[in-house]
Amino acid sequence: MDAKALKIEAARAALTHVRPGMRLGIGTGSTAEEFVRLLAERVAGGLAIVGVPTSERTAKLCQELGVPLTTLEATPVLDLTIDGADELDRNLTLIKGGGGALLREKIVAAASGRMVVIADASKLVDMLGRFPLPIEVNRFGLEATRTAIAMAAERLGLAGTITLRMTGGAAFVTDGGHLILDASFGRIPDPRALSDALHAIPGVVEHGLFLGMATTAIIAGAGGITTLDRPRGNEHGVV
Ligand code: A5P
Repeated sequence: MDAKALKIEAARAALTHVRPGMRLGIGTGSTAEEFVRLLAERVAGGLAIVGVPTSERTAKLCQELGVPLTTLEATPVLDLTIDGADELDRNLTLIKGGGGALLREKIVAAASGRMVVIADASKLVDMLGRFPLPIEVNRFGLEATRTAIAMAAERLGLAGTITLRMTGGAAFVTDGGHLILDASFGRIPDPRALSDALHAIPGVVEHGLFLGMATTAIIAGAGGITTLDRPRGNEHGVV
């Protein structure tokens, strides 16, 4: 099975978590888009749900496919978010933001009672950090923020390039009008410490480490679907 087929299988399995009447957070990225396509088929068949998209890109796809949308202003509490991840570990700590939507993804996930992550098996790692960590930053003071991130990382024993994300020859701009720095720190043994250190930097709007947010991961591999569950609020997966 190729990666696309695995993403579709993970997305299909996530549909079993969707119930009539649910208020859904709808993720961003190629895996989440497979979920939107399958969800749209169910909606066409009569399933009544309403969704909050995590990006303009997802909103557009939902509109094209007839998935009913609302906003967090109208619907501030959601039942369930389904989203992809760039990387996850067995504690269900995630790296997200490869698609640049990490801020809205985190706001939507935080508003949801549950978060189900869908991914192909290549995303599951023993320790996070193979995928560069996306950090959303304010445009003002970009170089000062980049320096502060490097110094904070160094205090935690982390080092690596911190690169401004570009697209088509210009800086990538998020839906919120911010920039993204991709930090290639390598292995991240203490995601909580890094999260806290990044949150302490004023120019950092948000980062792509999702701690204690995902409640379930649905992982599609050559051998079929694996489901990992974590009690909400227990980011380290220790019961
Ligand atoms: C978007 O900002 C990301 O967080 C995506 O959810 C994540 O990158 C997964 O994307 P793919 O499903 O395309 O790998």
